[in-house]
Amino acid sequence: MNLFDVYPLYDVTPVSAKGIIVTDDKGQEYQDFYGGHAVISIGHSHPHYVKRLRDQLDKIGFYSNAVQNPLQKELATKLGEQSDCEDYNLFLCNSGAEANENALKMASFQTGQSRVIAFKNGFHGRTSAAVAATDNEKINAPINKQQKVTILPLNDVTAFTAEIEKGDVCGVIIETIQGVGGLDEPTTKFYQSIAKLCKENNAILIADEVQSGFGRSGKFFGFQHHNIKPDIISIAKGMGNGFPVGGILIHEDIKASLGLLGTTFGGNHLACVATIAVLEVLEKENLVENACELGNYFNEKAAEIPQVKRVKGRGLMLGLEFDFEVAELRKKLIYNQHLFTGGAKDKHVLRILPALNITKADLDVLFKKLKIELKKM
Ligand SMILES: Cc1ncc(COP(=O)(O)O)c(C=O)c1O
Repeated sequence: MNLFDVYPLYDVTPVSAKGIIVTDDKGQEYQDFYGGHAVISIGHSHPHYVKRLRDQLDKIGFYSNAVQNPLQKELATKLGEQSDCEDYNLFLCNSGAEANENALKMASFQTGQSRVIAFKNGFHGRTSAAVAATDNEKINAPINKQQKVTILPLNDVTAFTAEIEKGDVCGVIIETIQGVGGLDEPTTKFYQSIAKLCKENNAILIADEVQSGFGRSGKFFGFQHHNIKPDIISIAKGMGNGFPVGGILIHEDIKASLGLLGTTFGGNHLACVATIAVLEVLEKENLVENACELGNYFNEKAAEIPQVKRVKGRGLMLGLEFDFEVAELRKKLIYNQHLFTGGAKDKHVLRILPALNITKADLDVLFKKLKIELKKM
C-alpha cells in the first residue's frame, strides 16, 4: 500500500531529537525553530516529560470515559490555576480541529442558532464546521460548504456589528494571533468590541488558542493581552508537546449535561500525563515569562536586518515579513544552514515557532544563519 500523497515533504528524516536539536538518519543535526508547527512547547524529549509518560505507560495508558480517571481532574485543576481560568470547565479531546468542532457545537447547543462568524485568513482545522470557518476555499469540500459561516475582515467593527445584529449567530471564532494566516492580530479595541457585541446578541465568543495558547504568546493565553473573557477557549498543539491532545475550556455559565459531548480517546491517561508534565515544566522553568522576554530580544535582533519589513506576532509566536516570497529562503535555511522555520498562507512571512525554553544564544544562531543566507540572495 502507498501513502495517500497529501503532504509536500522536505527531504529530511528525523530519527531523534533533544531540546531544540533534531537529528536525521545521516547524523546531521538541525536547529528546530518551527517546533513541528508550534507543537513542541517544552523542547523535544524533555526529561521530565519522558519520565512522566514512561511511568504512566507502565501503569495504564488508556481506558475509556466510562470509568473514573483522576488524572483528568488533576489536569483541569492545574490548568485552571496556571492559566487563571478557574471559572471554566474542561472537556478533553484529541486535536485542534476537534477542539474547535466541539466549541462550535457547544455554541450552537447553547444558543439554538447555527450561523458562525469567522475571520479572513483564519485557520481552525480541517473537519466539518472548523474547516467551514477556515478562510480557504481549497480545503472546503461541498459537504463543508453546507455550514452557515460568514467570514469578515479582522478589525472591522462596523461589518461585525451589522452581521451579529441579525440575531442568528451562534458563535464567533477568532484566533488571538493568526497562525497559518501569517500572524495578523485583532486589535484590543476590536477584541473588546466583539466580546461586548457577542454578549449583547447572545452569541458565544470562541478564542481559538490552539496555536497561541499554553504560553506561546508570552501570556498563558493570547486573549489575556486584551483584557477580555471568551465563553469558550480551544487548546491543542503545545498542550501535549507532541502527544495528540486537545480540549476546550467552557465558561461555567454554560452548563453540561450527560452525553452532550464525548470521544473515545479524549482525556486518556497518557494524554493527561503529557499535558500535566507540560504544565509542570512551564511553571518550574518560567517558560511563559521566557517566551515574553525572548520575543522582545527577537525584535531587537530582527531590527538589525534591513531586509525585514516587519516583525509580526508576540512571545515566541513570531514572523518575519519580507518583500519577497520565503519558500526558497526556507529551503536554504534547511539544506545549507540546517535550521527549521515555518511558512504561512502569506507567502512573504517566515514563521518562527520554537520551544519556549530556547535561549538568547539560540536566537543569536538563528539570526547569524539567516544573515548568511540573506547575503547570498
Ligand atoms: C489556530 C489553529 N486552530 C486549529 C488548528 C487545527 O489543529 P489540528 O491540526 O490539531 O487539527 C490549527 C492547526 O494548525 C491552528 O493553527
